[in-house]
Amino acid sequence: MATQENDEDDMEINPAKMLFPADETHGNGPLPMAMLTQDTLTSSSSETEQHYMPSIESTLVIRQLPSQGLSFKLWPAATTLVTLLDQFCSHPSNSPLASSLSNGCQLNILELGSGTGLVGMAAAAILGAKVTVTDLPHVLTNLQFNVDANAGLISLRGGSVHVAPLRWGEAEANDVAVVGREFDVILASDVVYHDHLFDPLLVTLRLFLNSGEPEPKKKKMNFVMAHLRRWKKDSVFFKKAKKLFDVETIHADLPCNGARVGVVVYRMTGKAKSSKSSSQCS
Ligand SMILES: C[S@@+](CC[C@H](N)C(=O)[O-])C[C@H]1O[C@@H](n2cnc3c(N)ncnc32)[C@H](O)[C@@H]1O
Repeated sequence: MATQENDEDDMEINPAKMLFPADETHGNGPLPMAMLTQDTLTSSSSETEQHYMPSIESTLVIRQLPSQGLSFKLWPAATTLVTLLDQFCSHPSNSPLASSLSNGCQLNILELGSGTGLVGMAAAAILGAKVTVTDLPHVLTNLQFNVDANAGLISLRGGSVHVAPLRWGEAEANDVAVVGREFDVILASDVVYHDHLFDPLLVTLRLFLNSGEPEPKKKKMNFVMAHLRRWKKDSVFFKKAKKLFDVETIHADLPCNGARVGVVVYRMTGKAKSSKSSSQCS
């Protein structure tokens, strides 16, 4: 499927379907570091979740700390991306991710707003990819914990995962300079939720997707984002994104649990100047 994203302005979104933990209502500033002592990180409030990936007959384990806030739990769109990665591995040519992931070489992948890191780790394990998982600085301790817990499997599969801070926005462009721009694909799940984060996220995406023409023989960098729409105002993000990037809908889950909408996966690339691109390795 490769249809244009619809605005769906009039769609009714039931706020009761929101899954945000309590701190969401107070904005998305970092939790005070005092709340993230080793005690809290190892306390009984942690939840371990296992994710089996049939394509590689292996399981990833993540630690969630729901009481620490929204960055410390797994969000629904992440599960959709992991399922699509898994299906890509079994049936690459039928996959909605085919045009994003097929380059015949080891992929270099960046994940934005990684949270628990499940998506990035699944990409590394399933694809044998070199992945950089990123988030706000206060999230990185738990992210690194999860990466360490799965490092054996990931390395057996020929992949690797590096953890780095990457704060979205103009003032944080230096984070982008540090992680570099040599990525084939950027992944993200459930990163469009607070309207004050729309512009910072778009600024960061522009740094990657609109940073000039790709090198000759190199495929355009693309951004694959899974999103569960909860608010009408989410459409503001997509309207702005469509002015900056070519935006396609590549997959839509059926709604579940009585929701009106399911997770939708978008593919964004810098606006095309020429339709020619090559899939050869650099
Ligand atoms: C709703 S959570 C989704 C987490 C994870 N991607 C998932 O699907 O399970 C949004 C993530 O974006 C991160 N985030 C929010 N604002 C950010 C910013 N300004 N810069 C970088 N990451 C940010 C949060 O810390 C959080 O991990």
